[in-house]
Amino acid sequence: MLDAVDKAALAGTIARLKKERNAVIIAHNYQLGEVQDVADFVGDSLELSQKAAAVEAEVIVFCGVHFMAETAAILSPSKTVLIPDPRAGCPMADMISADELIRWKAQYPGRPVVCYVNTSAAVKAECDICCTSANAARVVNSLEADEVLFAPDRNLAAWVAGQTSKTVIPWDGYCYIHNNILARDVREKRKLHPEAVVWAHPECRPEVIALSDKTLSTGGMVREARATDAREIILATEATMVYRLKKENPDKEFYPAHELAYCANMKKITLPKVAAALENMVHRVIVPPEIADRARGAIERMVRL
Ligand code: 13P
Ligand code: SF4
Repeated sequence: MLDAVDKAALAGTIARLKKERNAVIIAHNYQLGEVQDVADFVGDSLELSQKAAAVEAEVIVFCGVHFMAETAAILSPSKTVLIPDPRAGCPMADMISADELIRWKAQYPGRPVVCYVNTSAAVKAECDICCTSANAARVVNSLEADEVLFAPDRNLAAWVAGQTSKTVIPWDGYCYIHNNILARDVREKRKLHPEAVVWAHPECRPEVIALSDKTLSTGGMVREARATDAREIILATEATMVYRLKKENPDKEFYPAHELAYCANMKKITLPKVAAALENMVHRVIVPPEIADRARGAIERMVRL
């Protein structure tokens, strides 16, 4: 554990190295608080893809999980994208491989494939369009076909199916963190905080979403926290989400629906590793150009929407 003095010293080193390397640090909303605090930009997957495509700095230090850093590398091929710990993966993204997707598509000829950004670059290269939790329903509704394949998150697919008249055929993947938040967790938290509203991430189980007042991406939660009149909010999502929401809205109370909803992969990125990444210019995220070119098409179709 770093104490306040260590954190301040590392933040100073990181600020110096950032200038020397002409780098920006971008971080996902589930990153450790101290990592968010040294970032130039913090956001959800969609916001981070848009930011990665627009930055002018030569180096992007991506504080998030591997598929997110890959997306940044695909969208900014002339930049150096570094991930402070290359082992920070997303177990849901690993639930479908490119070969599995190719075989699945063959069973449903003519159906377009929507891939959640929580997939590898090789999987994105095989799909028609990407989506994030912030735009999944809009992406599916933008397609002409009546039936669409949706991978890999079955919970997000079920939520999207409720927002569209299209038939959404899901892959059987899930995020173990969101899937472990149960309806009874939400009911118990509601009993403890009867005045609170409930917001759920669309990676949650359908029965959890059914109990919630709003379904929001992590970026949606940030915006809604500023706008809402509610003083107490129960969050059915990764528990670190409380850090940014409380920092920006000190007058409101945020309670995780499940205190153990903790994405250990996101937390592999630490301040010492951010400093080491800048010092040693490691670990570079490289996507083979033939995969990157095909994956870029699917991501850019989403960003254009
Ligand atoms: P957001 O796009 O809502 O930030 O979600 C990303 C993610 O991995 C949630 O588990
Ligand atoms: Fe992947 Fe779930 Fe972690 Fe998001 S919270 S990065 S979906 S494992």
